[in-house]
Amino acid sequence: MHILLTGGAGFIGSNFVKMVLAARPNVRITNLDVLTYSGNLENLSDVQNHPRYRFVKGDILDTATVAPLMEEADCVVHMAAESHVDRSIMDSGPFIRTNVVGTQVLLDCWRRSRGGERVSKQAGRFVYVSTDEVYGSLPLGRPELLFTEQTPLKGNSPYSASKLGGDVLASAYHHTFGMDICITRCSNNHGPYQFPEKVIPLFVTNLIENKQVPLYGDGQNVRDWLHVDDHCEAILTVLEKGRSGEAYNIGGNNEKSNLELTHAILWLMGKGPEMIKPVADRPGHDRRYAIDASKIKAELGWEPTRSAWPKALESTVRWYVDNQAWWRNVKSGAYRAYYEKQYGNRG
Ligand code: NAD
Ligand code: DAU
Repeated sequence: MHILLTGGAGFIGSNFVKMVLAARPNVRITNLDVLTYSGNLENLSDVQNHPRYRFVKGDILDTATVAPLMEEADCVVHMAAESHVDRSIMDSGPFIRTNVVGTQVLLDCWRRSRGGERVSKQAGRFVYVSTDEVYGSLPLGRPELLFTEQTPLKGNSPYSASKLGGDVLASAYHHTFGMDICITRCSNNHGPYQFPEKVIPLFVTNLIENKQVPLYGDGQNVRDWLHVDDHCEAILTVLEKGRSGEAYNIGGNNEKSNLELTHAILWLMGKGPEMIKPVADRPGHDRRYAIDASKIKAELGWEPTRSAWPKALESTVRWYVDNQAWWRNVKSGAYRAYYEKQYGNRG
């Protein structure tokens, strides 16, 4: 099997490439990635010469690049995206272009490469890697409420709205053209090679640099944390066994408030609460995400095996402590300008 993967030089993509090459000896991967600020070939240095792996630098918006790659592929795993909520609040343009229009370009190229108007179900699967953020937000104090695949879709940030655009396009192409499409909706990931704009690597690397950590608002917002290896395994499971046209929730059953998460990180790093800097809240900040992942467990037998808390967090924190050259390189240059813009005047 030959997978065309988009966005494979990012956090989840690079972990996915390595996991699939190791776990599936008959699978080849072509990684199409334009290398935005968050795409980094250093994430893939240990597999760059692997005989079943190929990197192609290119934009998912560019039909001339995408179409010939699709002719060679048996299936598509689409995870290229602009992925950071705060950046979408600063400028939503790149989010709409890549996450909505880019997804449409890929879907149309895949449809044409598989024969046009009505596509046979045997023609090859397209997995759209969506997010739990397409369900909007849950209130605090209602632990019985979880996102299920039936929860109505709602995009609260420009990022979520753009992912929702891609998500409903993927459904529409299944419905209209009969294409073999599955959608995954996962909760917050952590693990190696996550760009240090996201809360866990940002906080850990700040603390190593002896800088305070900027905690938004009252710190009570809740996220459901999953190790990236569990997410990658779930995506592969959906690619191999998912039912065509279905969406699958993926989650760690691991809800933590940001304040709890911050204290856990401080404790693991031997730092005190004086390192917390409360700052102005994220505009429109979603209060709580919590996933009901019973469908993927019941239908496909997937459940998380590497996300147990706090062991999983500890291994992630240790990775950033042990791999300082990787993130110090990332945090130099353009990252500094972003950090100043995002946090410089945040009282
Ligand atoms: P990331 O920002 O680390 O990586 C995104 C990758 O996409 C980068 O390598 C970037 O260069 C590439 N890319 C961006 N625009 C492109 C374009 N126009 N053409 C080709 N490549 C392009 O993101 P991530 O955290 O690895 O997320 C991957 C996917 O998983 C995204 O679709 C995201 O919405 C989804 N997701 C992420 C999480 C999470 O917690 N990180 C959770 C659920 C879903
Ligand atoms: O739920 C899945 C989503 O998780 C993915 O679709 C997104 O791509 C991914 O970025 C992530 O979105 P979040 O907005 O939840 O992640 P982030 O790491 O940016 O923030 C996690 C929580 O931490 C959130 O409640 C905001 C808070 N936070 C974040 C930053 C960057 C802070 O308190 N301070 C910060 O500096």
